[in-house]
Amino acid sequence: MVSIGTPLTASATRIMLLGSGELGKEVVIELMRLGAEVIAVDRYENAPAMQVAHRSHVIDMTDAAALRALIERERPQMIVPEIEAIATDELAQIEADGLAQVIPTARATQLTMNREGIRRLAAETLGLPTSAYAFASTGEELAEAAEKIGYPVFVKPVMSSSGKGQSHVKSGADINAAWDYALEAGRKRETRVIVEGQVDFEFEITLLTVRSAGGTVFCEPVGHRQEGGDYVESWQPQPMSDVALKKAREMAHRVTDELGGLGLFGVEMFVKGDDVWFSEVSPRPHDTGLVTLATQTQSEFALHARAILGLPVDTTLLTPGASAVIYGGIDAEGVVFDGVDEALKVPQSDIRLFGKPESFKRRRMGVAVAAGEDIAEARRRAVKCASKVTVRQG
Ligand SMILES: Nc1ncnc2c1ncn2[C@@H]1O[C@H](COP(=O)(O)OP(=O)(O)O)[C@@H](O)[C@H]1O
Ligand SMILES: [Mg+2]
Repeated sequence: MVSIGTPLTASATRIMLLGSGELGKEVVIELMRLGAEVIAVDRYENAPAMQVAHRSHVIDMTDAAALRALIERERPQMIVPEIEAIATDELAQIEADGLAQVIPTARATQLTMNREGIRRLAAETLGLPTSAYAFASTGEELAEAAEKIGYPVFVKPVMSSSGKGQSHVKSGADINAAWDYALEAGRKRETRVIVEGQVDFEFEITLLTVRSAGGTVFCEPVGHRQEGGDYVESWQPQPMSDVALKKAREMAHRVTDELGGLGLFGVEMFVKGDDVWFSEVSPRPHDTGLVTLATQTQSEFALHARAILGLPVDTTLLTPGASAVIYGGIDAEGVVFDGVDEALKVPQSDIRLFGKPESFKRRRMGVAVAAGEDIAEARRRAVKCASKVTVRQG
């Protein structure tokens, strides 16, 4: 039996979110609806999820001592990581000490924080098909590995996300620049990269996979388009062959079983005909899954909230849909969004403005979602809706 207490009393079901971005904001709203007490944490004030939580704290989440001190003070029953850059070894210690339950598991956060951990698990332990890959800790090692794999290659810091520090390198002439770029952007100034051979895919998907108390279930595949390693548009359902879908589900099932725990995972894969390659996995809602706000009975955020609380989940797709990102376009604080009325005149559309205190040119400040008769119509609507919103200095 699952029981939920009363927020802000001794019986509260207390949940701490580590990372308070736009995906966390939606998770908090869903947890709040179910009567949880939510504490949002991030490294800067007024982060999106903080604006909808019971209270918030600003700390450096990569600082193990600061993280433990906060958890000991707040005593949440559950810790829900929303980002990768966290002191995950400390989370493992906290889980081992029985202080709190880490979602989905502390080991999952450790393995997925570093591209090396998850890639070796998927390719070497589980034997899943992936791109050709190697790891390098010096510029020379990188050049040698890239030569061996064969150009074009992708170079990525082992600890990075959203395309940061990533290069698509077409020939040996550019490999040194890729090394320098990866080092500059690496999250904690690590000196290690993964170099991957290019997979010649037809399309890429995120297979949202839910480990719930009732078992593992899948959402319809989400298709997406990336620019410079960052998602700009997504849609659902991405059409694919029955054979490819079956393979994708089997692969996602195996990876998520290995990571364990309860919650929603975003399993990224490349597809060509009946062939499927595993790429990476987030043990939490995925940015491309924002589309589920328009398409499913329960969005990926509702699914995550329900799954971690041990509640039943429903991944039913109601309609084809799409999402399109609204970028800042300018570097400024306290920006103003014009044209929201025009945007929402687009049929079956909706928007989310994340409320980020500071805008950057390529920072995701909002998203437009839309439903349609088919994905083509939904994509047109989402893109049109997003394009009507313009950002200016406040
Ligand atoms: N080996 C590869 N072959 C082809 N495309 C790739 C490869 N690696 C990355 N990409 C492209 O770059 C995008 C971002 O790479 P990804 O590994 O998912 O990084 P991030 O963790 O920053 O999301 C992918 O969604 C895909 O479009
Ligand atoms: Mg990715």
